[in-house]
Amino acid sequence: MSYKQTKILDVDKINNEDKKREYISDAAMWISEGEVVAFPTETVYGLGANALDEKAIAKIFEAKGRPSDNPLIVHIANRDQLSELVTEITPAAEKLMEAFWPGPLTIIFKKKGPIASNVTAGLDTVAIRMPSHPLALKLIEAANVPVAAPSANLSGKPSPTTAAHVYHDLQGRIAGVVDGGSTGVGLESTVLDCSVDPPMLYRPGGVTIEELKEVVGEVAVDPSLKNIEDAPRSPGMKYTHYAPKGSLSLVNDVSCIQALLDEAREQGKKVGVLTTEERAAEYEADTVIACGAREDLSTVAAKLYDALRQFDQENVDVIYSETFPNEGVGAAIMNRLEKAAGGRVI
Ligand code: TXA
Ligand code: MG
Repeated sequence: MSYKQTKILDVDKINNEDKKREYISDAAMWISEGEVVAFPTETVYGLGANALDEKAIAKIFEAKGRPSDNPLIVHIANRDQLSELVTEITPAAEKLMEAFWPGPLTIIFKKKGPIASNVTAGLDTVAIRMPSHPLALKLIEAANVPVAAPSANLSGKPSPTTAAHVYHDLQGRIAGVVDGGSTGVGLESTVLDCSVDPPMLYRPGGVTIEELKEVVGEVAVDPSLKNIEDAPRSPGMKYTHYAPKGSLSLVNDVSCIQALLDEAREQGKKVGVLTTEERAAEYEADTVIACGAREDLSTVAAKLYDALRQFDQENVDVIYSETFPNEGVGAAIMNRLEKAAGGRVI
């Protein structure tokens, strides 16, 4: 499928409320007509299509180049939509929805009903989330169907946190993109399987494991998150992700980074470093990216994917990144960095 033009509906920069409503209703109409449209959520931009329409869902896989065994998250705007899609809502799921919906928590349920089979890649479970971004909620409500949406990047690339990132990856491959400015969280939602007891964490994300435990007590963690030799229970976690074109390595001891940069530079490489505001002035490299501030890790999360994309834009060959504490939002940051680095840790 190719499109002469991918339309940008810039809701972010216009002040005219009627025009904004018109854009949302155009995007909703495309979705109900079986097209795919990118839209902002509070985590990253999603690439949405009608979750009840198999042909529309096939366009998502085609546009992203996504393997068909990787199921999609279904986005809803209200609780009534949920009861039509799942067989059972466990007490744990009930408490978690109460605490974190709308917001960056995806819950896996046993599925029922009319969801297209390619949404769930043949599984008997379905991942569902109610995003908190007002534009996402308005769009799903206006489309009046559950909206399946993976992150709106080409498969393998960092998820998009601006409409420009989406356009860069998917221009000519999708009908349109609703531009709502930069997303807030910057990393994808937490994925938690509530079809098992205790609930099991498949992907760390916007809601931290510490926050989940406060609400439901025990939370199991997919062993593959700690040991890359184990097969992940969530199909998407087995693929290489987020990787910049240059070779990225994570370096635990910051005092080694400058020497590593110098060595690569002597070999004629264009070198880059991923750091934070606190230490950015310490480095000499072709590209130094201060990705947020270490004293508030949510600022690092918000900028991480843009930083990884920037290294690509500047054609950096060798990138060294500082590491972050593996707790709170840091756990999600480290999970994505480890994947982006293909496990290279020094
Ligand atoms: O924040 C987010 O979650 C964003 C925004 C757009 O909502 N979406 C997103 O979707 O990150 P995606 O497709 O990039 O990641 C979905 C993850 C994949 O790892 C997929 O394998 C997993 O959720 N998943 C979906 N359904 C599942 C299921 N039934 N069982 C296990 N894992 C599932
Ligand atoms: Mg993704």
